[in-house]
Amino acid sequence: MGLEVIGLTVRVRDKIVLRRVSLNVDYGTVHVVMGPNGSGKSSLAYAIMGREGYEVLEGDIRVDGESILNLETHERALKGIYLGMQDPPAIPGVRLSTLLIASTNKRMGVSELTKIANPKVVKSAHRIASEIGLSAELLQREVNVGFSGGERKRGELLQAIILEPKIAILDEPDSGLDIDGIRKVASYIGSLRDSGRAVMLITHYARMLHFIKPDTVTVLIGGEVVARGGPELAFEVEEIGYEGVRRKYGSQSTQTVNT
Ligand SMILES: Nc1ncnc2c1ncn2[C@@H]1O[C@H](COP(=O)(O)OP(=O)(O)O)[C@@H](O)[C@H]1O
Ligand SMILES: [Mg+2]
Repeated sequence: MGLEVIGLTVRVRDKIVLRRVSLNVDYGTVHVVMGPNGSGKSSLAYAIMGREGYEVLEGDIRVDGESILNLETHERALKGIYLGMQDPPAIPGVRLSTLLIASTNKRMGVSELTKIANPKVVKSAHRIASEIGLSAELLQREVNVGFSGGERKRGELLQAIILEPKIAILDEPDSGLDIDGIRKVASYIGSLRDSGRAVMLITHYARMLHFIKPDTVTVLIGGEVVARGGPELAFEVEEIGYEGVRRKYGSQSTQTVNT
């Protein structure tokens, strides 16, 4: 149980960005998706969230065995899927604290989204923000407006922790972070796993994986799965590069789709 992506082919405009991609992310595990720039990693995340423009041509996406393909993005979020975006957008006019309060209230079925702040949420937001190196002042600022790259990524992680999603998809959460930041973020990703969540961790470097041991690693190149393995595969990528991995394992892949 958890997230299942089954034979997924996705088109964006007139381009096929994913071809028959299959992967599972079970609860209590971290599944790392690696690949060079432009290999379709973010497209996979967007397709799972149902982002407009990412058209599923074939295959299925299931949560706990049930297809979510017909659900709107906000309905998928209410099913417990969270996406920490690679480049999270700014939301002028909405404070980060308000976003956290409204989204946790929505999840708990409170109808007045922003009037009442759950004190437990406020307290843990402050605690976790300080632990991951976000200043309390930032919580009062408009979401991502004028945030540095690192602050945006930390803000996404903060939401991923506070919202307690069943399935957390984190798209390059290490980008723009220094080594201490990476270590901290990795440790929080580990705690998401330890609390039973299914984590899909998208990255193109193995550097974060020195601090968090993935359960499964999938390598995506050109929109196709070319290799799958355990943590050792990530370090092989680091050693021989994506081109090397493609040469070594690519022939095993028989996934082709005529478009
Ligand atoms: N909205 C879009 N419009 C046009 N092309 C897109 C769009 N989204 C993704 N693509 C294309 O799909 C391919 C995969 O992109 P992406 O999923 O962002 O890769 P990655 O995250 O692995 O770097 C790229 O060639 C990219 O240009
Ligand atoms: Mg990307």
